[in-house]
Amino acid sequence: MSSLKIVNVVGARPNFMKVAPLWEAMRAQPGIEPLVLHTGQHYDHKMSQLFFDHLGLPKPDVYLGVGSGGHGEQTGKVMIAFEREMQTLRPDLVLVVGDVNSTIACGLVAVKMNVKLVHVEAGLRSYDRTMPEEVNRVLTDQIADYLFTTERSALDNLRREGIPEERVFFVGNVMIDSLLKHREKASRSQVLEDLGLSPRNYVLVTLHRPSNVDDRDTLAGLLEVLGALSARMPVVFPIHPRTRAKLAEFRLDRVLRGYRDLKLVDPLGYLDFLKCMDNARVVVTDSGGIQEETTALGVPCVTARENTERPITVSEGTNVLAGQSPERILAEANRVIDGQGKAGRRPELWDGRAAERIVKVLWDREGRAAHGPPGGREGKGAQRPPAGGQFGRKS
Ligand code: UD1
Repeated sequence: MSSLKIVNVVGARPNFMKVAPLWEAMRAQPGIEPLVLHTGQHYDHKMSQLFFDHLGLPKPDVYLGVGSGGHGEQTGKVMIAFEREMQTLRPDLVLVVGDVNSTIACGLVAVKMNVKLVHVEAGLRSYDRTMPEEVNRVLTDQIADYLFTTERSALDNLRREGIPEERVFFVGNVMIDSLLKHREKASRSQVLEDLGLSPRNYVLVTLHRPSNVDDRDTLAGLLEVLGALSARMPVVFPIHPRTRAKLAEFRLDRVLRGYRDLKLVDPLGYLDFLKCMDNARVVVTDSGGIQEETTALGVPCVTARENTERPITVSEGTNVLAGQSPERILAEANRVIDGQGKAGRRPELWDGRAAERIVKVLWDREGRAAHGPPGGREGKGAQRPPAGGQFGRKS
C-alpha cells in the first residue's frame, strides 16, 4: 500500500523550527512519507543551513534555490519552480507554515493542482495590510483545507472571514515544540562566554521588519534607543541581512560603532539564539516568532511594533507592545531593567505536543484508510474533515 506523501515547505528562517517537529512526528507515523522542500527564499548559511544542522532537519529532498527579489518576483519564481516539482512529486498533501512569501506561493500552486493544502499557524491577524505577511496569511487561510491554530484569537479571526469551522483545529504551537525540545541543549551553548555577557545582564535586540528598517528616520530613532540602553548594560544585536544592508545604505553603521557596549553580531544559529533569549534581561524585537518564544520562556519582551498578530503574548505572556516611538520603547525596556517587567504564563497547548496533534488529525482523516494497515475503519479523507475537531475548539 502506498504511503501518505506530504510535502513540507520551508523557505525562510522562521519556517525551519516549525517544520522540524512536524517532520519528526510524521516520520514516527508508519504510512506517512514526509518530504522537505526548501524554496531557497533564505539562502545565507547563517539564515538557513545552520538551522537544519541545529534542528536535526534532514537535507531537503528538493531545493528550489529561488533567492531574493521583489515580492512579485520572489513569489512568482517560487510558484514556477514549485509547480514544476509538483509534477514529479505528486504528493497527497502540501503543508505550509507561517506567513512568508514561500507560504502563499506554494499554497496557491498546490490548490490549483487539486492537492489539499495544510496551513500551520493559521488565523493570526495584525489587521495591518501594509505588512506583507498579513496579506500572505489572509490569502493562505482562504485556500487551505486544514487550518491549525496556535491561539484562540485565531479561531475568531477565521470565523469572521467565513472559514468553515470544520477545517479549523486549535492544536498549540509547533515553534514552541522545537523550543522546549532544544532548551536544555541550548543551555550548553558557549555563546554568552564568547560574547562576554553574563546572564540577566544584557539586552537582546532583533530588528528586520520593513516598517522599522526601510525608513532612515525610523531606523535612526531605534538606534538611539539601543545607544541609550547600551549605556546601562550590554546590548547584543544579531543583525538580519536586510537590516545590515539598510544600515550601510543610510550610512548609519557609523552611529552604531560609536556605542561602546553594543555588540553587533551576525545572525546566530538556533541554539545560540535560544540561549541568548533564555538569559536576557529583556528582549527588544519586531519579530513575530520571538514574541512567542519569550512568552514561552518567561522572558520580558518589548515589541517595537504598533500591532501584533499574536495577542496572547500580550494578554497572557511577557510581551509589551511599545509601538515605533523611540521614547516609548526605551521607557518600556527601562522598566524591565528596573525590575518591573511583566510576569506571564505559558499559553494553553504550548506544551511541546502540537506537531503530534497535527499529525494525528492528518493521519486520521487522510491517511489511515487509504494508506494504513489493512482493516482501517475510515474511508480516505472526507473532502473536508468532519465537524468538531477534537482539540479545544472554542465552544
Ligand atoms: C522574510 C519574511 C518575514 C520573516 C523574515 C525572517 C516575507 C514577506 N518576509 O523577511 O516574514 O519575518 O523573513 O527573516 O516572506 N537576504 C540575504 N540572505 C538571505 C536572505 C535574505 O542577504 O539568506 C537579504 C536580501 O538582501 C533580501 C533581504 O535580505 O533582499 C530580504 O529577504 P526576504 O526574504 O525578501 O525578506 P525578509 O526581510 O528576510
